[in-house]
Amino acid sequence: MTLTPVPRLAVVVVAAGSGTRLRGGAPKAFVGLDERTILHHALRGVFAAEAAQVVIVVPHGFEGDALTDARDAAGARADLVSVVTGGQTRQESVSAGLAALWADVDIVLVHDAARALTPPAVFDRVVAAIDAGAVAVIPAMPVVDTIKRIDPADGRVIAAVDRSELAAAQTPQGFRRDVLAAALRDAEADHTDDAAAVASVGHPVMTVEGDATAFKITTAPDLDRARALLAGRPSPEVPPAPAPRGPQVGIGTDVHAFGGEGALWLAGLEWPGEIALSGHSDGDAVAHAIVDALLAAAGLGDIGTHFGTDRPEFAGAHADAFLSHTVGLLAAAGWRVGNVSVQVQANRPRFAARRVEAERILSAAVGAPVSVSATTTDGLGFTGRTEGVAAFATALVVPA
Ligand code: CTP
Ligand code: MG
Repeated sequence: MTLTPVPRLAVVVVAAGSGTRLRGGAPKAFVGLDERTILHHALRGVFAAEAAQVVIVVPHGFEGDALTDARDAAGARADLVSVVTGGQTRQESVSAGLAALWADVDIVLVHDAARALTPPAVFDRVVAAIDAGAVAVIPAMPVVDTIKRIDPADGRVIAAVDRSELAAAQTPQGFRRDVLAAALRDAEADHTDDAAAVASVGHPVMTVEGDATAFKITTAPDLDRARALLAGRPSPEVPPAPAPRGPQVGIGTDVHAFGGEGALWLAGLEWPGEIALSGHSDGDAVAHAIVDALLAAAGLGDIGTHFGTDRPEFAGAHADAFLSHTVGLLAAAGWRVGNVSVQVQANRPRFAARRVEAERILSAAVGAPVSVSATTTDGLGFTGRTEGVAAFATALVVPA
């Protein structure tokens, strides 16, 4: 295992709010956007940006859920994640996150989980500005609406405000670690963002360009907007791990009529003195049913997909050629055979004396146990009239 080098950068993702305005039935960060939570989406943006220690701050009782989301979103960076419990206010939650930073970290970004769709480029712009010498940086968006100052008591307009002097602050907000830690330690008021705490102790705060998709999910319409944006968004930044596979079963059946040329071949055996079955190959309905069951179990199509009449090399071929080719197809797709059970319905040939022999030869060809049983159909149907042979197989395959 290779360990990721200790980064100089950390991102504190604050997700400990209750989401009272959203009323999503769970703390806001744990409300679903699609099949994933707001927090999970926020973390995807974080992990797609520069490698950083990631501290997630969550409400008491949600630490385990957050870790599950984080491991899923982190991909190869899971060893950079920790989860801590937040406080009553956003500022207390940020402080709890700062307390978990590793010693080598000297740049801290604080990011609202509620800004779930923030693109990685915004993180990059903030880090670049700190690298260029700023002590505090926020992403900001121009205000598009005309702004009025009002009297909160009755909503009456008191004055117009020049919007060219205004900007809407977003996150991630970036700081030199020492500056942010000191500002929060000394903060007298509760600030709604970290830049305000840093500015209140006299540091300049720079801006970089924000992004319209970094809006904060606050109310139900914001949630709708985020969901609509996601529905139109292409592939995720972090490739999902392949779903773990378990055992799978498949079924296969085959029928052949008597009346072929030469000797009878059935269940991998030659039956001297019996009437041959007709078919493109040797007409071995037992082998063909097993092939279909194996292919079906592995989700690889059916016998026609792989052994069509356009494959002259299988004309006249016997069971071992079909079965070993099929087992090879399965192996290439990551499957091995668990076992196979096949039943023959036929008046002739009589299997009793050669059943064990058939099992041995088929098991050798498949490389796994194949059990064979045989029955007649009480004189009914085409098998009862000795017109042909039917075979029914089930197969179990397991990941190789
Ligand atoms: N936050 C936090 N700890 C708190 C309060 C807020 O970590 N005690 C986080 C939220 O989880 C969110 C961000 O700060 O990611 C911005 O806060 P806000 O949008 O106000 O979220 P909530 O406080 O959860 O929502 P509301 O104010 O509607 O209850
Ligand atoms: Mg709040």
